[in-house]
Amino acid sequence: MKKIVIALDGYSGTGKSSTARKVADELAYAYIDSGAMYRATTFYFLENNVNPEDLEAVVGALEQIEIGFDGVNVLLCGENIADNIRTMRINENVSKVSSIKEVRHAMVAQQQTIGKNRGIVMDGRDIGTVVFPDAELKVFMTANSRVRAMRRQKELEEKGIFEELNTIEHNLEERDKMDSSREESPLIKADDAVEIDTSNLTFDQQVHKIVELANEIIHAD
Ligand code: DC
Repeated sequence: MKKIVIALDGYSGTGKSSTARKVADELAYAYIDSGAMYRATTFYFLENNVNPEDLEAVVGALEQIEIGFDGVNVLLCGENIADNIRTMRINENVSKVSSIKEVRHAMVAQQQTIGKNRGIVMDGRDIGTVVFPDAELKVFMTANSRVRAMRRQKELEEKGIFEELNTIEHNLEERDKMDSSREESPLIKADDAVEIDTSNLTFDQQVHKIVELANEIIHAD
């Protein structure tokens, strides 16, 4: 059977990651969370006092950073850091780190290597535009910022972290702004992407929509 690449892009908190994970499960594809790679890099920078403004330090750090996935685990140089990368501290620093050209080039190269045999679902901001412009299926997910903040708040609560809704919404909007306006591969919808507004969709409905689109492509001859 034909194996395809599914690129899922969109704003923070649209449910991309959980949707992508479930879609991958249903198709028996690998799921790659590209945001986790930028988060892991940010974690490394913070832990090792790498100044994002210091290009030499950034390039030196990138040579040390090796990111892998093992089920739900995110491995930074072999160590599982999945629980350390979804904190407000990372949220507040990740847009800055992910706007650095050298960081993006290093991550994109790793992502293209991971996807070279196809049969993957990758979510992020530039997957359909930069990482896999030849992806057979591109989806661009949106949702209004209040709905997204509520989803993020619930996600944090499940980890025992309590944050004000307004703080989360403000942080999401700030990140949207930075992600969409940065010079290096900004968040934009690819011309050939299907846009799905998830504000009023249940999780199952959004998964079903994407699996259906994927199956049409997989089974077409
Ligand atoms: O999807 P997320 O919230 O885990 O992503 C974390 C940050 O990483 C987000 O602020 C934007 C950035 N990112 C990016 O620039 N490019 C990607 N392909 C994925 C994420």
